[in-house]
Amino acid sequence: MYTLDVNVARTESHSPLWVDRGLIEKLPELISPSKYSSFVVVADAGASKAKDRVCAALSVPPTRVLSLTGGESQKNVNELIHLWEFFAEQKLDRKSLVITVGGGATSDLVGFAAGTYMRGVAFLHVPSTLLAQVDASIGGKAGINFHGIKNLIGSIAQPVGVVIDIDALETLPEREIRSGFAEVVKHGLISDRAYFDKVTARDCMRWTPDEMVEIVHRSCEIKKAIVECDETEQGPRKALNFGHSIGHAIESFALAHGPALTHGEAISIGMYGEAYISYRVGKLSLADLTTIDTGLTAAGLPTRLLKSIPAGELRALISKDKKNVGGQVKWTLLERIGSAVFDVVISEDVIGESLAAIQPGATHPC
Ligand SMILES: NC(=O)c1ccc[n+]([C@@H]2O[C@H](COP(=O)([O-])OP(=O)(O)OC[C@H]3O[C@@H](n4cnc5c(N)ncnc54)[C@H](O)[C@@H]3O)[C@@H](O)[C@H]2O)c1
Ligand SMILES: [Zn+2]
Repeated sequence: MYTLDVNVARTESHSPLWVDRGLIEKLPELISPSKYSSFVVVADAGASKAKDRVCAALSVPPTRVLSLTGGESQKNVNELIHLWEFFAEQKLDRKSLVITVGGGATSDLVGFAAGTYMRGVAFLHVPSTLLAQVDASIGGKAGINFHGIKNLIGSIAQPVGVVIDIDALETLPEREIRSGFAEVVKHGLISDRAYFDKVTARDCMRWTPDEMVEIVHRSCEIKKAIVECDETEQGPRKALNFGHSIGHAIESFALAHGPALTHGEAISIGMYGEAYISYRVGKLSLADLTTIDTGLTAAGLPTRLLKSIPAGELRALISKDKKNVGGQVKWTLLERIGSAVFDVVISEDVIGESLAAIQPGATHPC
C-alpha cells in the first residue's frame, strides 16, 4: 500500500491519500471511524459495486446512502440543493463524515455540497474512475457548472482523505479507462519524461491491476507535488491545464453538436494541438513533438479529431475559457517532454495552424 500526505499550507491541512488494491475493505483501519459522529455515503450509480463494498466495510445502513445518476449533467444547482436537503434530513453535524463514491462529477458535486454545508463538513473521496483517481479527487477543487460554463461555481477545500482502490475500476468501461489515461500521460508530459516513456510504451488497456497501482501512485505523486506548491492555481498548478485550452473547446463543441467525446479524448487531441503550438513558437523540438504524437497513439489515445470542427468555432470557444485573463488566452505549453511553462501568450496565426494540425488526417510536420 502506498500512502501520500497532501499537505496544504494555506489551511494547514494534511490529507492522506492511499493507493492499492482491496483498500475499501481496509476503510475501518484507514479512517478511524470512532472520530466521527455519523457517516453518510453519496454514490454514483455507475459505482454501485464500490458503494456496496464501502457500506459493508463501515456498516452504513441503506437509509444513510444517497444514489446519484453520475456524470456531468448532475453538476447543477438543483442537485446541490438535493444534497443539502439530504444532509439536513440525516441531521449531519460538524463531526459527521460524508463519503463520496464515484467519478469526478461526483467528487466535484458532493465535495462542494459537503464543503459548504455548515461551513464545511468533513468529506472523504473513494474515486471509482481512473480520471477521479489520478486527478479529480486530489487537490480539493470542487464545484458545479453554471450558465453553460464548466465549474463556474466552486470552492477549494481539502478532503480528509482519498482512498484509491484500483479494484474499483473493475466495472469501468474501456472508454472511461482510456479517458483517465489521457491525464496520466499529461502528468508525464508536464513533469516526468521517464514516466511519459513508460506509460506510452503500450496500449493503456494492457496494464494489469498491479501495474496500475504503480501508475496511479506515480500520477498521484505528481499531482500532490503540484497542489502542495500552488493550491489555488496562481502559478505552477497551471501546468495541469496543458491540453485543456484546446481540449475544453473540443469537449464543449462535441457536447453541443456530437459525436460524443470523453474528456480524455478531447484532452488528448488538445495535448497534441498545444504541443504543436509549443513547437511552432520554438519551445519544443520537432523530435519531442513527434514522440508525443507517436506516444499518445501507442497508448491508444487520439491526436486528431474524428470529425472536422470548424476552426472559427474552436477559436470562439477557446476565447470563452475560464482561464483567460483580461480577454487574453494564457497558454500552458511544453519546453520539452517533462517540463511545462505557463501564462504564454501566442499569436492568432499560430493558434490557427494548431487547429489545422488537429483536423482529421492532418499530417505531422517534418
Ligand atoms: N476537481 C478537480 O480537480 C477535477 C479535475 C479533473 C476533472 N474534474 C471533473 O471530473 C469530471 C470528470 O470525471 P470522470 O471522468 O470521472 O467522469 P464522471 O464522473 O462523469 O464518470 C464517468 C462515468 O463513469 C461512471 N462510473 C463511475 N465509476 C464507475 C465504475 N467504477 N464502474 C462503472 N461506471 C462508473 C459514472 O456513472 C459516469 O457515467 C468532470 O466534471 C471534471 O470537471 C475535476
Ligand atoms: Zn482534465
